[in-house]
Amino acid sequence: MNYYLGIDIGTLGTKVLMVDAIGTVVAEHTAEYDLSQPQNGWAEQDPQLWWDATVEGVKAVLSKVKADKVKGIGFSGQMHGLVMLDENGEVIRPAILWCDTRTGKECEQITQLVGKERLIQITANPALSGFTASKIMWVKNNEPHNYAKCRKILLPKDYIRYKLCDVFATEVSDASGMQLLDIANRCWSDEVLEKLSIDKNLLAPVYESVEVTGHITETAAQLTGLCKGTPVVGGGGDNAAAAVGTGVVSDGKAFTTIGTSGVVFAHTSKMEIDKGGRVHTFCCAVPGQWHVMGVTQAAGLSLKWYRDNFCSEEIAKAEKLGVDPYVLMDKEAESVDIGCDKLIYLPYLNGERTPHLDNNARGVFAGLAVMHGKKQMIRAVMEGVTYSLRDCIEVLKEMNVPLSDMAACGGGSKSPLWRQMLADVFGLKVKTLTSNQGAALGAAILAMVGTGEYKTVEAACDVIIKEKDVHQPQHNNTEKYNKVYRVFTQLYPALKDSFKVLADL
Ligand code: XUL
Repeated sequence: MNYYLGIDIGTLGTKVLMVDAIGTVVAEHTAEYDLSQPQNGWAEQDPQLWWDATVEGVKAVLSKVKADKVKGIGFSGQMHGLVMLDENGEVIRPAILWCDTRTGKECEQITQLVGKERLIQITANPALSGFTASKIMWVKNNEPHNYAKCRKILLPKDYIRYKLCDVFATEVSDASGMQLLDIANRCWSDEVLEKLSIDKNLLAPVYESVEVTGHITETAAQLTGLCKGTPVVGGGGDNAAAAVGTGVVSDGKAFTTIGTSGVVFAHTSKMEIDKGGRVHTFCCAVPGQWHVMGVTQAAGLSLKWYRDNFCSEEIAKAEKLGVDPYVLMDKEAESVDIGCDKLIYLPYLNGERTPHLDNNARGVFAGLAVMHGKKQMIRAVMEGVTYSLRDCIEVLKEMNVPLSDMAACGGGSKSPLWRQMLADVFGLKVKTLTSNQGAALGAAILAMVGTGEYKTVEAACDVIIKEKDVHQPQHNNTEKYNKVYRVFTQLYPALKDSFKVLADL
């Protein structure tokens, strides 16, 4: 049997997953680390942390299977992060991460230099502070001495590729989040680079996700225990890799993640861009295809916020019973009817991306009455997050992105109530999968395809990804939710100006 590694360079840890050729997990190891926040809104990480975690993880999984049985390696990783290397290949400054929001001014600068509409036409997104281009401009504007030293710009997982293979390379899905890629043509945009005065030589060549980009070097082999010459494929940004790990690799297929943030991700073989930039269009890990993705900033985070602040009773009881507090919160929510006795929650605790693109948006409970208590509020939080994910679905529908088969992932998908709610509110069949290894599994599958174990990503997913539970939408429920969703969609426009005044107080 052949074995494959998926290495996921996450924001809070690096996971190394070893699977066999039919996706059975043989070993896994996660090494955690923190991000540093030297100033309000900043988020940085020393790339050495990712490298140390990768070496630790690879060594750990190789204790289970001999290195010569590992036929290929794939990556997944936190997107958008800026890694700058000098002429000796040394890191110049800590990486500036996707969740760093220091670059408001640079986003305005980029919009001015490229033009709002042209930027969306080429990069499929408006200038966003999370994306790499604005971080590059920030270093240019604020640390010109560092910019002058820079000879290579890499994304987080591509820095680990450089350490393992001694090559500079990236791939289309992660490169899409740099805001320098021509998304339709899957290559760097000379126009955007020229307008931003960024030298193309600073960027790595762009591959498709399944292409072999390099091989393990002698030095990396000695450090990790891997065999010299083991092929390493492009891999994918975390969402693109998760799509492969959930089998979302052909038209009609989509997944919804309820993690800290919430994502609705749909595959599309035809490139579609939302003119308003409300959802991200990126190249996906299937060669020559794309995905469209809406993001709700505080999904699982909303329920976690509610649990941590208002559910000490449930937390204590759960500890005694040896269960997760969310299980008890679920039971309370289940005892309340759809619509929560006319209580609606807007989940904008962290501002909102899709569809409002508004950092000033705030969380709201609308419709509170004396009869409301904790159980209605818990359910309202779950419903509000689900309506906000429905907002993403509505944008995808407007764009004619095909949607028929939805998988639920992330911590929130453990709740059967929440899964049924997704099915009812979306009006779509919602399934779960037998594996919840997501992005790391996707990375390993890309390695299998790139090294010839399977002919295509679709063929690999047909064998490896299996359905577990299926929730069909219940027509009566959908009708009830639709009535509340209509009111939900009226609340943000009514409050938008007040959110701005509040932000400026
Ligand atoms: C995608 C995004 C996150 C990061 C970190 O646009 O911001 O998914 O990749 O996980």
